Amino acid sequence: MELPAALRQGVEQALAGVAPADLARAAARLSQRYRAELRDGSFHIGDEGAALAYLATRLPATYAAVRAALEQVAIARPDFAPASLLDVGAGPGTVLWAAVDCWPDLDEALLVEASAPVRGWGERLTQTGPIARVDWRAADFSQGLPETPPRDLVTAAYVLDEIGAEARRALIERLWALTRGVLLIVEPGTPAGFARILAVRQQLIAASAHLLAPCPHQEACPIVAPDWCHFSRRVARSRVHRLAKGGEVPWEDEKFAYVAAARMPVPDKAARVVGPPRQAGGRAWLKLCRPDGTLAEQLFTRRDGDAYKAARRARWGDRMLIEK
Ligand SMILES: C[S@@+](CC[C@H](N)C(=O)[O-])C[C@H]1O[C@@H](n2cnc3c(N)ncnc32)[C@H](O)[C@@H]1O
Repeated sequence: MELPAALRQGVEQALAGVAPADLARAAARLSQRYRAELRDGSFHIGDEGAALAYLATRLPATYAAVRAALEQVAIARPDFAPASLLDVGAGPGTVLWAAVDCWPDLDEALLVEASAPVRGWGERLTQTGPIARVDWRAADFSQGLPETPPRDLVTAAYVLDEIGAEARRALIERLWALTRGVLLIVEPGTPAGFARILAVRQQLIAASAHLLAPCPHQEACPIVAPDWCHFSRRVARSRVHRLAKGGEVPWEDEKFAYVAAARMPVPDKAARVVGPPRQAGGRAWLKLCRPDGTLAEQLFTRRDGDAYKAARRARWGDRMLIEK
C-alpha cells in the first residue's frame, strides 16, 4: 500500500536534510520504547528526532493498517459517507490522510495530539492537504478531551498502548459519546494489542454499539489465547526507511488488530477471513469467524462452485459473503 503522493512528498522533504546515522539512532530508540510498551510518563515521540524517526519508519505502516481497516468499514457500510472526523493521538495526521483517501467527501477534522514535535510535523504536512478544515488541538486526552460536538467518524490508532487501563476505559466511553456514525480503534497486531481491542469490544457491546468490523457478531469472541485476532498489510520501505532501519528488505508486513463499531446495525452479516488463506490442488482453506459466533477452518473444493471461486480470491481480512 502506497502513501498518497502529497503525503509521501511531504515526508520526503521533512527527511531530506537528516543524517542517516541520527535517524537510525532515533528509530532504534523509538522502536525499543514501542516494543517494551514503556509507560514512564513521557511520550514515545517526545522530541524532534523521534518525530522524524516516526515519519520515516512508522507512518507508512500505520497508514497502511488504518487504510485497510477503513476499507473494511466502507465495505460493511457502503452507505456511510463521513463528512467529519475526530482523531485522538493523531501523531503526524496519519488517520486523516487515510480517511480522506477512503472518503474523499470528508471535509472537516479535529485532531488531538499532545506531543509538540509530532504535532508540528502533522500541522506542516496538512498545510497543503488533504483538506482545508483541519483543527489541530494540543491536548492530553488522559486529562479529558476538549469540549467538541460529535463527529461522523471517530478514531484512535496505535494510541491505547500509551495509556493505562482505567484511562483507556474513560477515553473509549468519551469517544463513543462523541461518535455520530462509526468509531474505529486500531492497535498493533500483537497479543497485547489484541487484548486491548478485546476489552474495547466488550465495552462497546455493553454500550449497545453495533460491531461493524472485523467481528461478524456480538457473541463472545471465539479466538482464544494463545491465538489472537490480527491482520497484516505489506508496506513498501522507502530508501530512507531502509537506512533508518538498517535493513535491506524493500518491504515489511505490518500486523494490526482493530475494532469498528457503529450507531446503526450492519445491513448484512458476513464471515471474516481471520488468517492467511491456504490453497493446494483444487482446494482452498479459510479460517473464518462466522456470524453465528463460531470460528472454523473451512475447506472449499471445486464442488462448492461460486463459494470455491470466492474462497480462492479471498484475502486475509476480507469479508466472505458467500458461504457453503
Ligand atoms: C503511535 S502514535 C500514533 C499516531 C497516529 N495515530 C498513527 O496511527 O500514526 C501515538 C500518538 O498518541 C499520542 N498520545 C499518547 N498519549 C496521548 C495523550 N494522553 N493525549 C494526547 N495524545 C497522546 C502520542 O504523542 C503519539 O503521537
